[in-house]
Amino acid sequence: MLRTHTCGELNLTNINQEVTLSGWVQRSRDLGGMTFVDIRDRYGLTQLVLNMETNAELCEQARKLGREYVISVTGMVAERSNKNLKMPTGEIEIIVDHIDILNEAKLPPFTIEDNTDGGDELRMKYRYLDLRRNPVRKNLELRHQLSMETRNYLNDLKFIEVETPYLIRSTPEGARDFVVPSRMNQGEFYALPQSPQQYKQLLMVAGYDRYFQIVRCFRDEDLRADRQPEFTQIDCEMAFITQEDILNTFEGLTKHLFKNIKGMEVKDFPRMSYADAMKYYGSDKPDIRFDMKFVELTDLVQNKGFKVFDDAELVVAINAKGCSEYTRKQLDELTDFVKKPQIGATGLIYARYNTDGTVKSSVDKFYSPEDLQKWAERTNAQPGDLILILAGKEEKTQKALNELRLEMGTRLGLRNPEIYAPLWVVDFPLLEWDEDTQRFYAKHHPFTSPKPEDIPMIDTNPKDVRANAYDLVINGVEVGGGSIRIFNKDLQKRMFSLLGFSDEEAQNQFGFLMNAFEFGAPPHGGIAFGFDRMCSLFGGSESIRDFIAFPKNNAGRDVMSDSPSAISNDQLKELALKVEIESK
Ligand code: AMO
Repeated sequence: MLRTHTCGELNLTNINQEVTLSGWVQRSRDLGGMTFVDIRDRYGLTQLVLNMETNAELCEQARKLGREYVISVTGMVAERSNKNLKMPTGEIEIIVDHIDILNEAKLPPFTIEDNTDGGDELRMKYRYLDLRRNPVRKNLELRHQLSMETRNYLNDLKFIEVETPYLIRSTPEGARDFVVPSRMNQGEFYALPQSPQQYKQLLMVAGYDRYFQIVRCFRDEDLRADRQPEFTQIDCEMAFITQEDILNTFEGLTKHLFKNIKGMEVKDFPRMSYADAMKYYGSDKPDIRFDMKFVELTDLVQNKGFKVFDDAELVVAINAKGCSEYTRKQLDELTDFVKKPQIGATGLIYARYNTDGTVKSSVDKFYSPEDLQKWAERTNAQPGDLILILAGKEEKTQKALNELRLEMGTRLGLRNPEIYAPLWVVDFPLLEWDEDTQRFYAKHHPFTSPKPEDIPMIDTNPKDVRANAYDLVINGVEVGGGSIRIFNKDLQKRMFSLLGFSDEEAQNQFGFLMNAFEFGAPPHGGIAFGFDRMCSLFGGSESIRDFIAFPKNNAGRDVMSDSPSAISNDQLKELALKVEIESK
């Protein structure tokens, strides 16, 4: 062993022991007669000391150590005269009597410190150096703990982890597939799984009634802070269960993680229907750390001559508590915010409930003081509050007010990352109509079962059919989603026909699953958690990249290995592929 201890474990109990430590040079300070070197490994930092008077040659050697050199040192543990109680090894130092330089290092392109001077791109290019920094290492340790605790919890409940293939058949539903050409079957392609959905259902048919897998999934979609092209799911499936069993089992997992990782006891998770989530928050993933629910005003404000409200499908408000004294500038900022193209509102109407009891709006010429009092009553506003109103097409207006609500929540400091507010959103619609292609898509996926009481509506009123589908939302982040599955071949066939597949197309694309349903499929259902999102939530960060060892940037590139990249003509030939890039 090139070390007897790590750089994070020595303390006063080790005084006078001879030890060997190995690690990287964090910094070296030359104070004339004395040289101090900090040596670092995964576990911490230890101070080395060399004295010019007692060992000049060694001191000279230490002075030449550059940052990030890999060294192994032997010496005696001594009590420090100048203690640093902030670090676990801060009461001791090593009086060195031997240094081995195991490897030299080039000067790193950024400082390997908690607060580095390296920009995002540079740190990604040298990710192995970034990974040496404490904050990044802590994130990966948190990830490891979360996966261990997940395995412990599920193992105790008799779930077994089964690996499913990464080279699978491309299926048309869902996001875009990443595809892999097959050399042995020229002209044919595998797809990388967007999730192990169909395989986990087949495992239920096979009788493995409690399955899980911490598994990589691949989706070729636009990237954001909470989306990577390859990400990890805690993927789970159970047989002989109801929706209630799934919600309880996985609420249990989440509580177990909060308790064992953060030492927090979390109360039972509230549940909200999708319809209520949209009505009161304009989002299927509401952040319920704060209230500020939507209040509909349409009936109250129309037919008073104000065209914007009269023409609107929906007029809807939030009450920003204590904001009646917002300045013109602050209100203009909010107006600019809602008018941003990605938010898409045409304008913002407001009413101040002044502390003197009067209500003044930005559209006073259309509304009497009595009218405005009614707005205040409806929105439950008190003197000192500010009512913010958006109007327009229903869906667009809800979406924009959701953004404004979140913005106000942030401005008012109501979104503390140390507070966790989990929520089950249930009763999602089964289908979603797409105007562009003029067809229904499965809201969750095509294997999701309709609520039995809504099945009669499938032919008459398909868009109102609710599904046995649910999402786990924490602090406005969709952490997980799942459903009870269709396990009857005829119902599954009917679902595909609703989605516009002919019998032949359905058989062709999904035949292996439908055929399996003829060999004794048990009732089953499941859920998948976005593991990276879970880590970032537990770590108090919005970006999942910080919790992935080697992430991609927002253009889907790995800037360290510079991939994706072109492949050689020989490789293309082997695959019988010809690449023609269409110019835009
Ligand atoms: P779904 O598509 O909802 O369900 O995915 C489950 C969870 O995975 C996370 N997630 C992502 N995380 C990071 N980057 C991405 N690109 C990304 N896409 C999704 C989200 C999401 O809630 N097979 C079904 C589950 C089931 O029905 O059991 C599925 O994949 O946190």
